[in-house]
Amino acid sequence: MGLAVVSLIASCQSPINNSAATGPATATITVDVAHPGHAVPDTLWGIFFEEINHAGDGGLYAELVQNRDFEANTLADGWRLDGTNAFTPLGARVTKWFTNDLPGWSYVAEGGADGEMAQESENPLNEQNPHSLRLTARTLGKRCGIVNSGYWGMNVQADAWYDLSFHARTENGQRLALVVSLENDDGSKISARATIPEISGNWRAYTLALHARLSDPHAHLVIEMVEPGSIWLDTVSLFPRDTFKHHPNGLRPDLAQMLADLHPGFLRFPGGCVVEGITVQNGFRWKDSIGDISQRRGGFDVWGYYNTYGLGFQEYMQLADDIGAKLVYVINVGMSCQARSRQPGEVTAGDALAPHVQESLDAIEYAMGPTNSDWGAKRAANGHPDPFKVDYVEIGNENNGTNYGSHYPVYYQAIKAKYPGILTIADAPPRNQTMLASPVECRDDHFYVEPARFFGMAHSYDNADRNGPKVYVGEYAVNRGVGRGNLLGALSEAVFMLNLERNSDVVIMASYAPLFENVNKRDWPVNLILYDSSRAVGRSSYQVQKMFSANRPDAVLPTQVDAPQIPFNVGQTNQTNINQIYALGGWDRKSGEVILKVVNPTSTNVTANISLNGASNLAKQGTATTLGNASPTAENTLDNPNVVVPVESHFTVTGAKFAYNFAPNSLTILRLPAAAN
Ligand code: AHR
Repeated sequence: MGLAVVSLIASCQSPINNSAATGPATATITVDVAHPGHAVPDTLWGIFFEEINHAGDGGLYAELVQNRDFEANTLADGWRLDGTNAFTPLGARVTKWFTNDLPGWSYVAEGGADGEMAQESENPLNEQNPHSLRLTARTLGKRCGIVNSGYWGMNVQADAWYDLSFHARTENGQRLALVVSLENDDGSKISARATIPEISGNWRAYTLALHARLSDPHAHLVIEMVEPGSIWLDTVSLFPRDTFKHHPNGLRPDLAQMLADLHPGFLRFPGGCVVEGITVQNGFRWKDSIGDISQRRGGFDVWGYYNTYGLGFQEYMQLADDIGAKLVYVINVGMSCQARSRQPGEVTAGDALAPHVQESLDAIEYAMGPTNSDWGAKRAANGHPDPFKVDYVEIGNENNGTNYGSHYPVYYQAIKAKYPGILTIADAPPRNQTMLASPVECRDDHFYVEPARFFGMAHSYDNADRNGPKVYVGEYAVNRGVGRGNLLGALSEAVFMLNLERNSDVVIMASYAPLFENVNKRDWPVNLILYDSSRAVGRSSYQVQKMFSANRPDAVLPTQVDAPQIPFNVGQTNQTNINQIYALGGWDRKSGEVILKVVNPTSTNVTANISLNGASNLAKQGTATTLGNASPTAENTLDNPNVVVPVESHFTVTGAKFAYNFAPNSLTILRLPAAAN
C-alpha cells in the first residue's frame, strides 16, 4: 500500500504520460487562485466506527480468544428463543446468533481421556458474567482439555509474547494444575507451552506469559488438565503484547495504523445502529464497557453476533487520542433501532426518560469530568486521570418521527445546559424540524448509493441553506452495483467528496461507512478496510479517503469545469450522463501550493486545459498522485492488495496555463507550488 514514486521527467514510459500532453483537449479547468474561498475545516474528513462485520471483536480489538467470558449465548432479560430465532420482549425477531452453548470453544479428549466441558451458572464470577466454563477430567488419557479457535484462527507469530489471563476456581479444596499451549492450525505443532502449577479455592485471577516459537495465523489456544478433577474458568483472555501504542487491552497495530494513516479529523463512535440496539436496553451501554474486562457485560450485537464490550467507551476515546482525532459520541435517545428492530420499536417514555438522559450526561462526565467528579474519578481509576475532550455529541442515530421530535429537545437542552461547548448533531432528515423545540446546530445526512447517484450529486450541496444547520455527512459509500466494492465506486465517492469539500462552509464533517470488515463475517455489502486474522488491505475507497485527507487544502478555490458528458449505465438500471472530468482546486497556505483534485471516471484518457488564474511564481515542476486502473472494476483484496494504489510522479509546469492528460478511471491530485496574486 506504499506510494510508488515515478518521475515522468526522467522517464516517459509510464502509461500515464503527462509531461507534455498532446492531442485535442477535451475539457477545461479554470481555477481562480487569486480569490480563495471559505476555509476548509480540519474536521472535514473523519472516520466512523461501529461494531459491525467484527470490526471490534475479531478485528481492531486485539483480543485473540473468542467468547472469552462464556456469555455468547446469554439472552438479555425478557428475550426468548424459538427455533433458530430470538425474540425481544416486544416481539422483534432476530436470527439466533449461536449454534451451541459455548461458541468458539471445543472439548478435546485423546488417548482414552474421559471428561467434559459445560457452561455453568452456579457460583458465577460476578453479576456481569453469570456463566463460566467447567472443565472436568475423569480420566486424563493422552490429553483432556479445551480449545479456543479465536476469531477464524489466532495470529501467533514466532518470537512474539502473548499474555494470557483468566479467572478460575475449584471446589472441595482441590488443587489442580493446568497446561496452556498455543498450537498450530491442525494441532500438530506447539508454538508455546507453560504450566499454571496450582489452581485452588474460590475465584482468583491468574496470568501467564507465553513466548511463541512458531508462526501460524490460524493458531489455537489449548488448556489441558494435568490431573483428574474440575476447574471453573471465566474471562479467558489472550492478547499479543504488541498492541497499538502498547496499551493493555489494546488494539491490533496494523489496523489501528491504517486508521492513523487516514489522519482523521474525528472519530465517530460507537455507531451506527448499535447505538440504538434492537431494544433500548440492547443499545450501546457505555457503563458496561468500562473498567476491568472481567467486570464488563457484553451482549447481542444488532449485526448478529455477540459483542464482549472489551473495546469500550474508554478504548474508543484512547484510540481517538492516539490518532489525533476529535470525538463524536453518538448517544441513544431512548429509542431502539427504527431501521432494524421492526415494529414495534421500543421507546423510553415518561418518567423513564430522565434516568436515560442522565446516562448520557454521565458518559460525558466520565470523558471530560475532573477527577473529583463522580465519573471523572472512575475514569482516573481506570487509568486515565487526564480528561478527554468530547467536541460533538450526536443525539440518536437515524431516528426520526414524532418520538424523535419530542426526545431530541430533552437531550439537547440537558447537554447544552451542562456542556455548552459541545456541538450537538441531530439525525437527518430534518423534516421534523417544526416539531423540534430546540435548535438544530448540525444534522447528519446518510447516503448508501450506486455510482450514478454520486456522479449526479456532484453539486448537491451547492445550494444548501447557508443560514441553516451545519451538515455532517455521517455515513456514505457506494455499495450498490459495485460488487464488494471497486474502483468505479471509489471514483464516484471521490466526485461526491469534491462536492463536500467545495461546500465545506456548510458540510463541516464527513465519514465513510462502514469502516471495517473481517472477511469471514460480512454483515454489510461494501466496507473500507478488509482483514483476516493476520492480513489487512485498504480497498480503493480507502485510498481515496487517504488521498483526500492528505490533500485537504486550507481554502477552497473557485473552480470552473467545462467537460463533455457521456452516457453512463454501469451498476444501475437506467442510463444517465456523467462528466468526463470533475475537479476542484484548493489552496494550501502552509506549503504554498495549489491543490487540484481531478476525477476522470471514463475509460478513456481525457486531456484538460488547466488555467490557474492569478497564480504567480509557479514552480517549474508539480507533483501528481494518481489512483487509477485500466479497469473500473479493479479492486484490492487480501491476496492482491496493490491493484489500486496511488502512484506519485512529477510533471513539468510551463506556466499558469498548461494541459494535463488524466488517465482513464482515475483520481489525480496535482500539487503546484505557487503564489497567489
Ligand atoms: O453503516 C451501517 C449502518 O447503516 C449503520 O449502522 C446505520 O446507521 C446505517 O443504517
